[in-house]
Amino acid sequence: MATAAERLIDQMPTAMRSKVEPILEAVALLREIRNPSVMTQFMPSFGRGFVLRLGELDTAKMVSGHATHFDWTYESDFPEMRDLYTRAKRNQWDAEMDVDWETDVDPMNPEVPIVPEHFIDLSRAADFDVTLSAVEKRRLMHDVAAWMLSQFLHGEQGALYAAAQVTESVEWVDGKLYGATQVMDEGRHVEAFHRYIDTKLNKLYIINDNLFTIIDSLMTDSRWDMKFLGMQIMVEGLALGAFGMLYKWTSEPLLKDILKYVIRDEARHVHYGVLALRDHIRTKISEKERREREDWVFEVSLLMQNRFMMYEVYEEWFEHKVSRRQWRELVLDMPGLHEFRRVMFSRLVPNLREIGLLSDRMLPYYEDAGLLRYMDGLDATRLSGDEYLDALQHHDDFEFAAAE
Ligand SMILES: [Fe+2]
Ligand SMILES: [Fe+2]
Repeated sequence: MATAAERLIDQMPTAMRSKVEPILEAVALLREIRNPSVMTQFMPSFGRGFVLRLGELDTAKMVSGHATHFDWTYESDFPEMRDLYTRAKRNQWDAEMDVDWETDVDPMNPEVPIVPEHFIDLSRAADFDVTLSAVEKRRLMHDVAAWMLSQFLHGEQGALYAAAQVTESVEWVDGKLYGATQVMDEGRHVEAFHRYIDTKLNKLYIINDNLFTIIDSLMTDSRWDMKFLGMQIMVEGLALGAFGMLYKWTSEPLLKDILKYVIRDEARHVHYGVLALRDHIRTKISEKERREREDWVFEVSLLMQNRFMMYEVYEEWFEHKVSRRQWRELVLDMPGLHEFRRVMFSRLVPNLREIGLLSDRMLPYYEDAGLLRYMDGLDATRLSGDEYLDALQHHDDFEFAAAE
């Protein structure tokens, strides 16, 4: 139910509303972060993303103060990581040769939708007096697909540099060798998603403010384990959720093929993240540091869950018709977003449990957020990319299937 203030904003002229709403929303986002120390950590990146709007420029610089760790002995020191390195070498693929770029992709063809129309429940839009013709709906879904793929691409660019940074800073020789394969993987993902956007969709959106803020805060944090936690567990978990949802829902064969290859790689990346953090968090850091990380991942989970509102699509299509609040209501209830959250958290929560960040202190918070039902799922060290793909394809109740 809208408050009086919200109704007032809804009725403002579009030009005024489009200035007032983003500011109010940025303030609301900061208020949503309940833990003051997590908020302090995010403030500089938040300022760069939301206030300075650096994500809207063509280029950005993010400065990191991490140390590069050298080891002159070269002795193998982590057999499970070494094994992952071997698997990663053998599973390399070529984004140019291994998928069929000759596939004719027509985003306006209703027979082969890239994103199905039921991704957004447009019948709800009628509540706001928005009705679209069949052709307009297809154009809208094309923009939604371009928006999602653009965010995938920007996330992959962040993953490429984060993988390079953690390769420098981890202290295991086997971790460095494995990290080199991940840098290659992420480079290939950038290549594949960019080519798909550039040659098939012909539309690239700027980076979403929230994604910018999360990436900026990880790139500029000098602590290796925070980079790992943020990138290998949280952002990779987010990516696996989004890729998994689209893999399951798209009918377009080229995109489905690319996603299949990418998901296999990403499953290894999360596996690596769990291996690197498990002992470290359980035995190497102080109780205070562990609690700090527990609070941080919980807040970031909430941010990831509710903060990808496709405002850039809204601005093109609906800004003159409905307020951001009304659009937000529509998006939060989209079937596509429900599926994305379900797939993402069914992968993320078991990994947080495995690395020791779901202590009894945190359980009530996860319970309140409705996330405890994923607690018994398989963590990334026990679920390969192929098993994950199979579960996505064949089991509707994915988190239950994964727990079996
Ligand atoms: Fe990737
Ligand atoms: Fe990755």
